[in-house]
Amino acid sequence: MGNQSPQEGKAVGEDSVALLSNKVDPAEETPHFISLRPKSLKDYIGQAEVIEALSIAIEAARQRKEPLDHILFHAPPGLGKTTLAHIIAGEMGVNMTVTSGPALEKGGDLLGILTHLEEGDLLFIDEIHRLPKVVEEFLYPAMEDFAVDFIFDKGVHARSHRYRLARFVLVGATTRAGLLSAPLRERFGIFRSLDFYSDEELVQIARRSAVLLNVEIDTDGAYEIARRSRGTPRIVNRLLKRVRDFAQVRGDGIIRKDIVCKALELEGVDEKGLAVLDRKYLKTIIDFYKGGPVGIEAIAATLQEESDTLVDVVEPYLLKIGFVNRTSSGRKVTEEAYRHFGLPIQQGLFR
Ligand code: ADE
Repeated sequence: MGNQSPQEGKAVGEDSVALLSNKVDPAEETPHFISLRPKSLKDYIGQAEVIEALSIAIEAARQRKEPLDHILFHAPPGLGKTTLAHIIAGEMGVNMTVTSGPALEKGGDLLGILTHLEEGDLLFIDEIHRLPKVVEEFLYPAMEDFAVDFIFDKGVHARSHRYRLARFVLVGATTRAGLLSAPLRERFGIFRSLDFYSDEELVQIARRSAVLLNVEIDTDGAYEIARRSRGTPRIVNRLLKRVRDFAQVRGDGIIRKDIVCKALELEGVDEKGLAVLDRKYLKTIIDFYKGGPVGIEAIAATLQEESDTLVDVVEPYLLKIGFVNRTSSGRKVTEEAYRHFGLPIQQGLFR
């Protein structure tokens, strides 16, 4: 988390560490590290329906003394998929092991992890849509029968061994539910999409985080950060820390609206909360492709960015605020985006 890019999403290939055991809470391990993540369902702000559904599933599983069904979370980056996985593990009182789709290259990588899980333990696979096919197929019997068949050697020496596994809970996270194969998707008993947060929820998150960071923030200051955080708690917390620095060095330490505006200007965050890459994306379509329609690969090539980053990180919020549309012939910038940049709209472009 320490190396978050300004655009907030994870770069492709990040999290490539094969296994990150989370048996120790980093907040307890590192002095001076303050985790802004809520630790329990009752502390979680927003996503009310998801939280209620999870509370019911957790309580029912606890009463029956059974592990939970496997859970799949779908959302753009920064909306709480990983945080919820940690909370579920905490509420169930089990250990959680963290890995990611691209970090698992072979069935053997997964076998090592699965055989170390104890009854009820949680296995979190981030970017599960990027799991290689061989690993995905290895996962099916593990999810369904809590057993895996591993084949050693090849040809006439081939031997198969069946490993029994403890009844673990898989929590998968994806930014692209559509890329998951149907057989994998169908093996999750609980599937939830997380939405962008409302400004009111983000204000509450900013206030909660300010308390944890021991910094004073007024109502207008909290609202200004919330409103420019693209519906995303991770962005609230990142901007809050930058504004706190600014207030401390250039102000009296208190976060007010005028300090937020100055600090965010320095961060390259505009009135709508758009960051550098958001603006470059929109300007590319406007300047090079006359507002579109244009295919994502052409935009990515012009911007020299990965198309995955644009689709996962940049587009979801621009689609949500109606600055772009996705049509069958490609991406199209809307009138609102032209107006945001103060650009003239050519006759006949939208009418
Ligand atoms: N920090 C980040 N996300 C949060 C959330 N949803 N609720 C409370 N604090 C948070």
